[in-house]
Amino acid sequence: MTSMKFIDLFAGIGGIKIAFENAGFDCVFSNDFDKNSKITFDLNVRKISNEMILGDIQDIKTHSIPDFDILCGGFPCQPFSVAGYRQGFEDERGRGNLFFDIIRILKDKKPRAFLLENVKNLKTHDSGNTIKVIYQELEKLGYKVKDQVLNSMEYGNLPQNRERIYIVGFLEKKSFDDFKFPEKILLTKTIRNCLENKEVDDKYYYNDKPLYEKIKNDIVKKNTIYQWRRKYVRENKNNVCPTLTANMGMGGHNVPLVLNGKGIRKITPRECANFQGFPKKYKLPNIADSHLYKQFGNSVSIPVIERIAENIKSALIK
Ligand SMILES: C[S@@+](CC[C@H](N)C(=O)[O-])C[C@H]1O[C@@H](n2cnc3c(N)ncnc32)[C@H](O)[C@@H]1O
Repeated sequence: MTSMKFIDLFAGIGGIKIAFENAGFDCVFSNDFDKNSKITFDLNVRKISNEMILGDIQDIKTHSIPDFDILCGGFPCQPFSVAGYRQGFEDERGRGNLFFDIIRILKDKKPRAFLLENVKNLKTHDSGNTIKVIYQELEKLGYKVKDQVLNSMEYGNLPQNRERIYIVGFLEKKSFDDFKFPEKILLTKTIRNCLENKEVDDKYYYNDKPLYEKIKNDIVKKNTIYQWRRKYVRENKNNVCPTLTANMGMGGHNVPLVLNGKGIRKITPRECANFQGFPKKYKLPNIADSHLYKQFGNSVSIPVIERIAENIKSALIK
């Protein structure tokens, strides 16, 4: 049997692409409008036969997208997140409306299934109206839809406390009935497994930076991840890394912190990649760290997506 085809919208650095390819799907189209993400994407997952299309999704005509079986998209989450602007579909810069580009493509192409990923708060945004509209729009197209919030530390064997909503839909009722979200699995990986075991560059240390005086008395344990929350230090008690976010790229204060024999430092972009389950062979391009922090914060926990992709595959094959 030939492998099923998917498209990767809002592709970023290819986290969803890697997960679906690992599960045996074939990517036929990727799009993002961020040129720095494309640099990282191209270094790792570029296919000459199917280059990532750099451009605004709103300008992409559906007839230019090849046929496919599954639409995947971690659509931009800012308008839906509490940490963001609380603007939902009415976001004045139009970002909230990108969901309607997903609808447009689903309507024109009618793939058998889709997977959408977003922040957990999508469910409670605008007192539940946002998710209601999302369901209504998808169901109008004939899709049967279900969603679940999964935490990477419970479903991906990754020591990161990352709760995301995964919305899955199928055209065929049988596939919808057969699809189950993955079961919880044991967390065996620890922070240590994700931190570099070699010395990292001095630029990641705070030892002689102004913030050091404010944080040094609170950051006292090794093998614990801390965060500077504008005015105070927060210790992560459950021995995992807090959610990596896109705004780690802005100013750096949200980048998780660790203590070792040499001092206090932020975790590196490579360590962020590890906490998201990117493979060791995934290369980091020579671009500013701020871009890399943002890209890994924006990306997905690959093992969680891969487990969902496996279940989508079983539901479509039966
Ligand atoms: C939450 S991230 C998704 C990251 C991706 N799943 C990954 O694994 O890296 C959202 C992405 O949407 C892209 N984006 C935002 N607005 C866009 C638009 N109008 N057209 C195309 N891409 C857009 C951003 O550049 C960002 O990479």
